[in-house]
Amino acid sequence: MDEPFLSVENLVVDYQVPGGSFRAVDDVSFSVDRGRTIAVVGESGCGKSTIAKAVMRLITPTSGAIRLDGTDIASLPESRLRSMRSRFQMVFQDPYGSLDPHMTAQEIVAEPLRLQGVRSKAERHRAAAELIDQVGLPVASLDKHPSEFSGGQRQRIGIARALASKPELLVCDEATSALDVSVQAQVLGLLRSIQEETGITYVFITHNLGVVQEISDTIMVMQRGRVVEAGRTSTVLTTPAEDYTRKLRRAALDPSTMQGVKPRHLVRSLSLAG
Ligand SMILES: Nc1ncnc2c1ncn2[C@@H]1O[C@H](COP(=O)(O)OP(=O)(O)O)[C@@H](O)[C@H]1O
Ligand SMILES: [Mg+2]
Repeated sequence: MDEPFLSVENLVVDYQVPGGSFRAVDDVSFSVDRGRTIAVVGESGCGKSTIAKAVMRLITPTSGAIRLDGTDIASLPESRLRSMRSRFQMVFQDPYGSLDPHMTAQEIVAEPLRLQGVRSKAERHRAAAELIDQVGLPVASLDKHPSEFSGGQRQRIGIARALASKPELLVCDEATSALDVSVQAQVLGLLRSIQEETGITYVFITHNLGVVQEISDTIMVMQRGRVVEAGRTSTVLTTPAEDYTRKLRRAALDPSTMQGVKPRHLVRSLSLAG
């Protein structure tokens, strides 16, 4: 039996706040096998983005282990993390702040390839153009700057950039939330086919239970920094054991639309409150 590709054990993250500290993530454990997708759901403020940042080691956890392909990165110094960073990438909730306003879309998507040592600029730009096409942006986008794109288009540039270094783990933090339904379906389809092709592992943070159904094998439901329910997506969403999960589901799905409807056909655009 293979080890899970990502295994988070007893993760605790405290933020320093005036007058003390605030525990945003409180003893959270989960794992996901290589080539699989875990969805993380829960109301705003429950700690989802904090988990994402810890797994990316954008923040250092207070305690706990984050085993990535067997290496615990929770307290690894930056000097040792550097060589691993291209293996795990994140698509941010708000891509605007993370895209350099002075670079063109093509340069933004090509940049990770330069850092990875792809020497030929022509080769980097060819790969970037291909990715930009894959995420559904027109060729005319290549020479545009972030300010010339809509929020949804910027989100797709962020996805293309994250995929450029061919990561083994992609953490998507509300990555498709700003997209309209048809583009969202297109991007989810793209992410699924990339997974089938490459065996990439996804952690998918979303408010949207339709997206959860569409993309994830397992699900973790969070409330106030803790896991309240976890398991196979189909089981948890059809027969939630916890009141809180039932509440989330009620908030997201009109029960009348669930009668006799196969999960794949659940309305994709319905979102959880918050
Ligand atoms: N840098 C920070 N300093 C202090 N508190 C923070 C910081 N970042 C997030 N928090 C708090 O931690 C909790 C979890 O935040 P977050 O992980 O962003 O939740 P989510 O992504 O589920 O909305 C929230 O109460 C938030 O206000
Ligand atoms: Mg968040």
